[in-house]
Amino acid sequence: MVNPRICLPRRLTCFALVGMLALNVPARAEDRSPDAGIARADGVAAGNGMVVAQEARAARIGVDILQKGGNGVDAAVAVGFALAASYPRAGNIGGGGFMVIHLANGEDTAIDYRETAPAAINAKSFLDAQGNADPQKSRESALAIGVPGTVAGLALAEEKYGSGHFTLADLIAPAIAMARDGITLDDDITDEQTNVLARLARWPAAAKIFLKADGSALSAGDRLVQSDLADTLETIAREGPRAFYEGPIAEKIAVAVQAAGGVMTVADLKNYRAIERTPVRGTYRGYDVVSMPPPSSGGVELIEMLNILEGYDLAHDDETQTLYLMIEAMKRAYADRALFLGDPDTVTVPVAKLIAKSYAAAWRTTIDPEHASPASAIRAGGSSDPEGHNTTHFSIVDRFGNAVSNTYTLNFSYGVGLVADGTGILLNNELDDFAAKPEAPNAYGLIGFEANEPGPGKRPVSSMTPTIILKDGRPFLVTGSPGGSRIITAVLQVIVNVIDRGMHIADAVAAPRVHNQWMPDQVFAEPAVPPDIVAALQARGDKVVPQRPFTSAESILVTPEGFIGAADPRTRGALAVGY
Ligand code: DON
Repeated sequence: MVNPRICLPRRLTCFALVGMLALNVPARAEDRSPDAGIARADGVAAGNGMVVAQEARAARIGVDILQKGGNGVDAAVAVGFALAASYPRAGNIGGGGFMVIHLANGEDTAIDYRETAPAAINAKSFLDAQGNADPQKSRESALAIGVPGTVAGLALAEEKYGSGHFTLADLIAPAIAMARDGITLDDDITDEQTNVLARLARWPAAAKIFLKADGSALSAGDRLVQSDLADTLETIAREGPRAFYEGPIAEKIAVAVQAAGGVMTVADLKNYRAIERTPVRGTYRGYDVVSMPPPSSGGVELIEMLNILEGYDLAHDDETQTLYLMIEAMKRAYADRALFLGDPDTVTVPVAKLIAKSYAAAWRTTIDPEHASPASAIRAGGSSDPEGHNTTHFSIVDRFGNAVSNTYTLNFSYGVGLVADGTGILLNNELDDFAAKPEAPNAYGLIGFEANEPGPGKRPVSSMTPTIILKDGRPFLVTGSPGGSRIITAVLQVIVNVIDRGMHIADAVAAPRVHNQWMPDQVFAEPAVPPDIVAALQARGDKVVPQRPFTSAESILVTPEGFIGAADPRTRGALAVGY
């Protein structure tokens, strides 16, 4: 049952829902600004299918596939390839990610297409001569490049769960057209290119595509043409996904990575496999939570936090108390993340323990309702500057009852910035998500221990949290976000805002967010968190530091009347579009 209060704060949108079920109602909010307070939120209604993505062209391509009779997985695969052309800072074929799928027949599954470490990576790969973690190596050098998983992952999803009405080539075709013909760039894309100019300028093969001839960033209104990427996509469309991993494309990737000082070989590419995994499942106040298992920490830590919070009456607590309790839950879950999470194919991750209700109950006994726990008091088991929107999430539902939640990334914006010459493929710097050394923070300030140490063939722990909430076995809420370590807590807050606080999905997505990750011992608060709440949290002992928004929870709520898509107003170019 949909919480009746969901519609109350936004009566206008609810009215629109009834009147526009069959209409295509795009909501591009031109007044969105990532730095200022969070702009107006939009909820978009549709009766047959919905795509919410961080880039409008890709979202429309997804809806077009749905309208042609495709299912949610067909649409997700088309959106995934399209974003590689239209949103190159995060959309990719040179990175990796995760897809959580709910099938209309009631089954849930997850595709792990996380990057793997090349065979020559070991526990010392990202250390300097003194044995200290060297961020230059793990973030800015070609050593940071993991074997890309996106092509294998999207192809696996399509092969197993596509409708069968489309070939992979059909779904890649819109991406090829955009890469070949070029797209006119919007300001959100060009602003970010300016931010990462130095990274792109280091590599001539990247600069010739993404920068002007004089080395400056492209401007809004300029065209981005990616002919090499179009050729690469055409080869994949013609020959299938293995063409990425064996043969001329793989050879060019290995040559480019090695020429830049990395260690990836053609054998690493040939050995890459996407893996279908059983999603991690929990329950929260009568809803089922289906999310990404390790090597992402997202699902496990999301469920751990929800289990802790289930013991409190958040629906009736005031906002400060709700935020306070969420922050206490965050501290404990992220302490566990640091100690226990790793690649499940090389370490044993105690998932069952971490998502047990009894484990959450034990954590609750350590939470003082009035006084914040310092990070130093929290022991698992019983910072650096953020980079903006560098990962990208999209949520899709179709009229058949399928739902897809997909988050994928190059890690930093434009990854390491290296394009493998002649392929148009931008390569990731995902291996910074390993714990280069116990307790050395990664780019998101996350620390880890032996469970997440670099090693050959290993997948670094991720925070990506593509999630589907079910009610009575059917999709209720589809959500996920970019934002590095902030992803899991962003997803948590969307869920609590909808289920406990009865907010309209657009308001739940737009509401200002807080974040704590155990270490550093700080609560990051978006500027829109009201000053009296900041003061109240500080009075309880939390160190609150302002931080600009950089999560973006593209979400869909399924109601008895239809789908409501909410594009996160933190991303200027995001679009919810349905039919
Ligand atoms: O997998 C992870 O957790 C990170 N590599 C994701 C990076 C990210 O979300 C950056 N976006 N803002």
